[in-house]
Amino acid sequence: MQKGFLISFEGGEGSGKTVQIKRLRDHLTEKGFDVVVLREPGGTVISEQIRDVVLSAKNVGIAYTTEVLLFQAARAQLYRELVLPSLEAQKVVLMDRTRDSSVIYQGIVRGFGVDVIEQLNTISTKDTYPNLTFLLDISVEVGLGRRAQTDKMDRLDMETREFHQKVRDAYLTLAQKNDHKRWITIDAEKTIDEIADQVWKGVAKKLNV
Ligand code: TYD
Repeated sequence: MQKGFLISFEGGEGSGKTVQIKRLRDHLTEKGFDVVVLREPGGTVISEQIRDVVLSAKNVGIAYTTEVLLFQAARAQLYRELVLPSLEAQKVVLMDRTRDSSVIYQGIVRGFGVDVIEQLNTISTKDTYPNLTFLLDISVEVGLGRRAQTDKMDRLDMETREFHQKVRDAYLTLAQKNDHKRWITIDAEKTIDEIADQVWKGVAKKLNV
């Protein structure tokens, strides 16, 4: 391995990213890899404070532009403090969402435009892309149904059904385009074990293990 390896998980609400990231972390650790797990927005003390502001259900008055810039601010801090140094130290970095979430939620669904979001992503990540991205695809009904069983409802979870449908469609289109040949789409309505198997196959192939 040259310079570490960045794997991101993307998908709508209730798609089970967190469970799969834990499974993958355990599997990679067993194989002797040095693994770092991070989430966006968040992952550092400063980024977690930004997360509180941007996701709080209280902040319904947040302007779209503010939302765009807060997600990017949290990302800029995270990449400088942890993602880039970890890649430099040849670690495997697993991310629960990163730049593609901004492309989908702010660029496409909020209508900010993909180009401007990608320009901001270039700045916040210092032009870093995941080596591999898993899209955990789930129907809006099942995803929101799962989310409703938890007490994790944040400002974006409370958006309309149409919002979440647009998120799903936009992810599927992006993954199908498959720029940089880094996307793998998985049916997230399968069992946890089946999904974990598919994730591992994808990772093992890329890492040659
Ligand atoms: P989180 O609780 O991590 O959601 P999930 O469990 O679904 O991953 O909250 C992240 C929310 O923020 C989610 O609704 C997606 C949204 N988001 C954006 O809109 N833009 C971004 O750039 C990122 C990183 C997240």
